[in-house]
Amino acid sequence: MSTFEPGFLWGAATSSYQIEGATAEDGRGPSIWDTFAATPGKVDHGDTGDVAADHYHRYRDDVTLMKDLGLGAYRFSIAWPRIQPTGSGAVEQRGLDFYRRLVDTLLEHGIQPWPTLYHWDLPQPLEDAGGWPDRDTAQRFADYAAIVHDALADRVTHWTTLNEPWCSAFLGYATGRHAPGRQEPGNAVRAAHHLLLGHGLAAEAMPDSTVGLTLNLTHVSPATRAEPDLDAARRIDGMQNRLFLDPVLLGEYPADVQADLAGVTAFDHVLPGDLKTISAPLDFLGINYYSPMLVAGGGTPRPSAYVGSDRVTQIDGGRPRTSIGWEIDARGLLSLLIRLNRDYPAIPLYVTENGAAFDEPVHDTARIAYLEGHLRACATAVARGVPLKGYFAWSLLDNFEWSYGYAQRFGLVHVDYETQQRTLKDSARWYAGVITRQGL
Ligand code: FCB
Repeated sequence: MSTFEPGFLWGAATSSYQIEGATAEDGRGPSIWDTFAATPGKVDHGDTGDVAADHYHRYRDDVTLMKDLGLGAYRFSIAWPRIQPTGSGAVEQRGLDFYRRLVDTLLEHGIQPWPTLYHWDLPQPLEDAGGWPDRDTAQRFADYAAIVHDALADRVTHWTTLNEPWCSAFLGYATGRHAPGRQEPGNAVRAAHHLLLGHGLAAEAMPDSTVGLTLNLTHVSPATRAEPDLDAARRIDGMQNRLFLDPVLLGEYPADVQADLAGVTAFDHVLPGDLKTISAPLDFLGINYYSPMLVAGGGTPRPSAYVGSDRVTQIDGGRPRTSIGWEIDARGLLSLLIRLNRDYPAIPLYVTENGAAFDEPVHDTARIAYLEGHLRACATAVARGVPLKGYFAWSLLDNFEWSYGYAQRFGLVHVDYETQQRTLKDSARWYAGVITRQGL
């Protein structure tokens, strides 16, 4: 049996645009995801977040569900356009009040609130002014962080600045698969830097709090030991993992990644002092892990999220896949956790997202197997000395899965989008048992 220490934090995660709905209520301004989802062809079936899981109105019932599952913490995100409808200046009190009510309800039920300040819903006016490729957006983000922090710091102890800046930068500005849907590789690299700068400035604006950052990291392997494949693995590890980890935890951009990107950007958007701001001590690192990557080099160049490495191809590792098409390999999580502890020691780690999309409405045996395998990897990592302090399942509820719309369901709890009825899946009951037993 794999057990976890008492104090290990058990949670589940969601994000604002994916569950809240009520996009035009209480003064909320438009975000880039409202605009993107309303653009024909961007999201499967034309789905939007307008109603989503209606959590804005049903949050009390949803917190009761969390209580029933025995969650110790709930990771949610705050919608910037609810707080500052135009992204700067005027504050919408009704937006702050919503999150205060949510936090109070969580605390009443003994559940620790774990807010993330940015899970991709940039106020549209800031995108119109240039978006994340524009340096000013980082300062606007810090201003917004200070507003939310002032309003909630008496109730919230653990803050996360950004969720997965890789996705914001490279899916948002390189492939255009995510909002705002631009295909500008150089600007994607600038966006990555300004997101990190925004993280650093926001952390400065939240003194005396526990502040972390969540990255989507993966374990990358070469298809063969041949030189082009080894180089491909180095490149993808560089763009997916080290481009974010190194500035934050080591205070520098990796030299090999800068060289890979030489044809795309001269990194002259990095100004003196930026890396100092970005690398101010971090209290914890959040890791979102879903799938490993097997890569080969020497392919025909084609547009890629991995800017500057467009000859790299992802290879089928031959493993079973979830319904969204992501390969399942819990050993990738174990390798990643051990590597993080080796290369960036001493930083407390949390798995802030891990889970699977499966087309099994309620009797979701495949999801249970996925979660069990990955939790075993966590237990093994802890036994090997990795400072892993908690685990958040993605996701509490079925929700709007970005460009896939509602077709891909990641929830522990099933949502009937016609009636908004919630039904616990078998995985929810199973997870509640894990939490009670503190182990598998
Ligand atoms: C992550 C996102 C999260 C969800 C999962 C499946 O990249 O952070 O919002 O979409 O993937």
